[in-house]
Amino acid sequence: TLDAKALKDKILKLKEEHSAVILAHNYQIGEVQDIADFIGDSLELARKAANLDADVIVFCGVDFMAETAAILSPEKTVLLPAADANCPMAEMITAGELRVLKERFPDAAVVCYVNTSAEVKAESDICCTSSNAVKVVESLDEDKVIFVPDRNLGSYVARFTDKQVMPWEGFCFVHDRITPEDVINARKLHPGAEVLVHPECRSEVVDLADHVYSTSGMIEHVCKSENKEFIIGTEVGIIHRMKNDCPDKLYYPLSDNAVCITMKRTDLQKVYNSLESLTPRVTVPEEVAEKARLAIQRMLDIK
Ligand code: 13P
Ligand code: SF4
Repeated sequence: TLDAKALKDKILKLKEEHSAVILAHNYQIGEVQDIADFIGDSLELARKAANLDADVIVFCGVDFMAETAAILSPEKTVLLPAADANCPMAEMITAGELRVLKERFPDAAVVCYVNTSAEVKAESDICCTSSNAVKVVESLDEDKVIFVPDRNLGSYVARFTDKQVMPWEGFCFVHDRITPEDVINARKLHPGAEVLVHPECRSEVVDLADHVYSTSGMIEHVCKSENKEFIIGTEVGIIHRMKNDCPDKLYYPLSDNAVCITMKRTDLQKVYNSLESLTPRVTVPEEVAEKARLAIQRMLDIK
């Protein structure tokens, strides 16, 4: 194994050789964010992956994000440096379960959070992310909406629409375990701070927050806000990016337990190994990809 500086140099060299671009999610560890060409939330990364001039995409995030990139750019080599970086929430619904739901509610539209497998996307009418979920639901003609898999994002969306939103019972273990007591305690410790939470949090937590945003929405907010202190109700990795983008403000995690272990499986060594061997590669069979692409593209077409 090499030290961090030597690894970084080798990664940059390989990146050039392969005409590769490194994309990283806002939850990635600091050293991975620091080497990325682009850091973002799920929607920004999907848009980026769709419009990249590169042969290779190194996706520092979790599997559904790399799959989305592979679906949008089947001609590119998409690498997921940590092969076991899955999203447990995405595994809480299968395509078979979704087909049963569709039979039960044939007049409902199906909205799937991007945190799903390619097979589930292929069974859906349109995808959404945490930053556009309300817009996506409002764009539909149908009055009834099957919303999978996140019950918390589903009930968040239901607050802003007259449509009947029927959420599946999935959840993100990182956000779902944040409690109202966490908010009350954090406010006591930091009375002047604003509380920002992700819509994957429980509705009791959302009720106590000042603002609800996607990860990049939070970053934009803290940079623009006149406030100096923020309590951050999402995965703690985002604080690295906030400190980088807006160093003169103070950030406190709403919960120190808000750690997504699979997001942390990517490190510089794995990025290097992956660029060197061009593995582990993520591919999606074309018969699944062509249907999933329609649902993703329909989302990307909403501005
Ligand atoms: P964002 O799209 O807000 O970055 O969220 C992704 C995610 O996995 C949240 O847990
Ligand atoms: Fe999945 Fe939650 Fe991790 Fe996001 S934070 S990747 S939703 S487990």
